[in-house]
Amino acid sequence: MKNKYLYIETFGCQMNVHDSGQMAVLLRDLGYEPTEDSAKADCILINTCSIREKAEQKAMSELGRLMKLKEKNPNLIVGFAGCLAQHLGARVHGRVKNVDLVFGTHNIHRLPEMMARVQKERKPVTEVGFSSSLHSLGIFAPPPKGAVGAFVSIMQGCDNYCAYCVVPFLRGPEMSREPKDIVGEIEKLAGRGIREVTLLGQNVNSYGKKTGGRGDFVFLLKKINDIEGIERIRFTTSHPRDLSEELISCFGSLRKLCRHIHLPVQSGSSRILKRMNRGYTAEEYLEKVARLRRVCPEISITSDIIVGFPGETQKDYQETIDMMEKIRFDSVFSFKYSERKGTAAQAIEGKVPETEKKLRLREVQALQDRHTQEKNTSLEGSVQEVLVEGQSRNSRQDMTGRTSSWKIVNFEGRSELIGRTVPVRISRGYLHSLRGKQITP
Ligand code: SAH
Ligand code: SF4
Ligand code: F3S
Repeated sequence: MKNKYLYIETFGCQMNVHDSGQMAVLLRDLGYEPTEDSAKADCILINTCSIREKAEQKAMSELGRLMKLKEKNPNLIVGFAGCLAQHLGARVHGRVKNVDLVFGTHNIHRLPEMMARVQKERKPVTEVGFSSSLHSLGIFAPPPKGAVGAFVSIMQGCDNYCAYCVVPFLRGPEMSREPKDIVGEIEKLAGRGIREVTLLGQNVNSYGKKTGGRGDFVFLLKKINDIEGIERIRFTTSHPRDLSEELISCFGSLRKLCRHIHLPVQSGSSRILKRMNRGYTAEEYLEKVARLRRVCPEISITSDIIVGFPGETQKDYQETIDMMEKIRFDSVFSFKYSERKGTAAQAIEGKVPETEKKLRLREVQALQDRHTQEKNTSLEGSVQEVLVEGQSRNSRQDMTGRTSSWKIVNFEGRSELIGRTVPVRISRGYLHSLRGKQITP
């Protein structure tokens, strides 16, 4: 039998990357090998994102481009998945002809059945219903050979309804997996050589609130901390409102918990935070950061910032800049506000002109680059524990890995080091990485 090939293109967040891994596993069981070459593929999946308008445009143009391959190969199966697929549903077929499969974020586990239907019926299949089960989250994706880190979904959906955000509409209500299922999965990963796990959820701090007394996020972290073979635990994303005193204290007490937190602030103006429905003030955010630093002075703090939310005045924007100056984040993902259909922010007055948003974004990015560079330079001369992930992309003599604080470190070393944690003295701090030399004991 001829080999069949699968080409997956993924847009959006880590959750989508994780979902794509699960799709690949399900299709591997149907005989599809992964390929990097779309022209060779028998099945193409585009896993899409809808968070900002630009993300949608990218996904649609990629769909258009890849559909051309179907003209040459009519047997090619093309699937459109993820958050934009969830949003558009059957409307995809109206926009682009001959797409075989459109499925949403709650239907991943049904991929084998949907593929069979496409092949048998030869007509488009659309599945974008929500389910009240967590089937898709439980699909075990064995890590690729040599992988050091893995992502583990601990919950699905979001109930926060931040005024700008489409995620609650596209990923459904918040639901947590059972602690025993998560622990079981991580034990399995550890058995296959994984050393670092990153726990995924839109708001991990509220883990367990909906599973009814089977343990909260701190309980889960403590359980994972006991798993043999796992050396590092990370998680993303934390909602500042729900960052508890108990979780903060874990950064001082849980040995395996990495000294890094991604804590999206979104804005430095309490007035805007209120309109965003974030549930905390700028002062409360600053207080939480101060507490984190009290418990763990070396903790690195990264964030997300939106500029140009409706009604953001020059003064509000200046408060975001002031907040950045006060906190000095290790790094920040910053975005221009993008209006999304169906969100509460659509109805908020005071749209900020595109040119102004651009200007604000550029300033935020320039300021953050300065802070990131200063932070990285300040690490020169220090010794960092680096979990080695693989060969560096830029040089065959170099290994690459990350510090506990999530900074990339490149250093000269051999591939036997992959999967080990080694001390590296930092010689140079760049904007996007550090360079160092391994210390031999
Ligand atoms: N659940 C996570 C992140 C979700 S999306 C959290 O709450 O932090 C990732 C980031 O995209 C958000 O933190 C926000 O900064 C940005 N974002 C979301 N919707 C947006 C929109 N409509 N316009 C611009 N940025 C947006
Ligand atoms: Fe969106 Fe807010 Fe939920 Fe994050 S917490 S996914 S920003 S609604
Ligand atoms: Fe995008 Fe959906 Fe993630 S909208 S950011 S892929 S949850």
